Amino acid sequence: MANVICVDGPAASGKSTVSKAVAEKLGYLYVDSGALYRIMTWLALEAGVDTGKPESIADFARDVDVAFVVKGCRVAYEVGGVEPGDRIRTPEINRHVSPVSAVPEVRERVTGWLRDMRRLGDLIVEGRDIGSVVYPDSPWRFYLDADPEERARRRLVEDVAKGFADQGAKEQVKASLLNRDKIDSSRKAAPLVVPPGATRIDTTAMTIADVVDFIVSAVQP
Ligand code: DC
Repeated sequence: MANVICVDGPAASGKSTVSKAVAEKLGYLYVDSGALYRIMTWLALEAGVDTGKPESIADFARDVDVAFVVKGCRVAYEVGGVEPGDRIRTPEINRHVSPVSAVPEVRERVTGWLRDMRRLGDLIVEGRDIGSVVYPDSPWRFYLDADPEERARRRLVEDVAKGFADQGAKEQVKASLLNRDKIDSSRKAAPLVVPPGATRIDTTAMTIADVVDFIVSAVQP
């Protein structure tokens, strides 16, 4: 059975950057579970589904079709033969993704996909419920965290680079992060929690390389 490393934590805690680097070091496949919730949200919005109505989202989620393709050290997602890219990372998607991902039928669908991916090889999967719900039996479960101020700083740098925000938007970015944390932590279905038995890493004062080394040494002592 393939190995799975689980990396959970709030938005902008460093999960993606760290998980991609660990995947390259260990020759594992990087899996971005948040992107699947973003794709669901994007397709629902494109189809005109009212994201304020959980039952409409649930109906829509049953028919969504995503293809999984191994590309280098990651599992890529294709919709109609193409990767959605930054279309799933806009502020509009950020606003709608938490309510969409709170719908149990959406979570069931995505959890099924994430469990199936194990047949592709050893995985490092990042998200909110990977060590608590998707792969609770994995011996390698990590929870990354950082101060909200530091997380807002990191997310602003990314958003400015993508042209989604300007330098002065830090307070807005922080408010959006905190709002998402609140919805993700308080929802009924698979809320964001530190999974019991997981290793919590506070990355506020750590470099990416420090965190990567910590995880790699834990997995391959
Ligand atoms: O990691 P991200 O910002 O791309 O995640 C987008 C949203 O998806 C996040 O607000 C909560 C949801 N999500 C989730 O509920 N469970 C996961 N395993 C991953 C993401």
